[in-house]
Amino acid sequence: MQIIKVKNAAEGANKSFEIYQNALANGVKVLGLATGSSPIALYDKLATSDLDFSDVVSVNLDEYLGLDGNDPQSYRYFMNEHLFNKKDFKQTYVPDGKQADRDKAVHDYDQILSQHPIDLQLLGIGRNGHIGFNEPGTSFDSTTHIVDLTSSTIEANARFFEDPSKVPTQAISMGIASVMAAKKILLVAYGENKADAIAATINGPITEEVPASILQKHLDVTLIIDDAAASKL
Ligand code: GLP
Repeated sequence: MQIIKVKNAAEGANKSFEIYQNALANGVKVLGLATGSSPIALYDKLATSDLDFSDVVSVNLDEYLGLDGNDPQSYRYFMNEHLFNKKDFKQTYVPDGKQADRDKAVHDYDQILSQHPIDLQLLGIGRNGHIGFNEPGTSFDSTTHIVDLTSSTIEANARFFEDPSKVPTQAISMGIASVMAAKKILLVAYGENKADAIAATINGPITEEVPASILQKHLDVTLIIDDAAASKL
């Protein structure tokens, strides 16, 4: 694991932006993208840059079940707002949270992933060490699947909802094996509430109880973390 420590999220966005500049210059064609607050400053920089994504396919990690892309709380809406409405991509994929046939939604997304192997996967991290919506206990062998969100994740994400009781309790997420299949992985984490998860990811045992700990086994992982997120290392 390569660990890049930065003072704050703004410096983290600058460092991560450089990684995307290099990746595109090197012909990267498939970007695995993430939602959450951590990548927002990076997306702002990508959206206002002169980088050209017209030959790039994006594949997002996850989506809430029950929300369609026009719902402002959906991850499709988030991606449109922060990046896709501002930059043309060849194609953008987010799991279909509105598909009534869940097996089909899962199967379709695995098909998309097999057709578009990810060159560079962006990750945030949950306070409990989740990546995507792969909660503690998720099999390291998992591919796309339906997830029951933990109460800690529902609580953490309630801040994005006007009515906290409206936070969906289920999601569709790429699995851990799908994430690990990416050629390169970039995880960004800022703030003290990520410090335990970051310490467990980097120094803890590799265990399904801390989904991000599997990253220790990936050959090309970069972590960009600020001083607060690094405070328990
Ligand atoms: C959600 C997303 C994750 C994200 C996490 C942390 O659970 N599914 O992909 O990493 O939130 O979000 P934030 O960056 O806002 O702390």
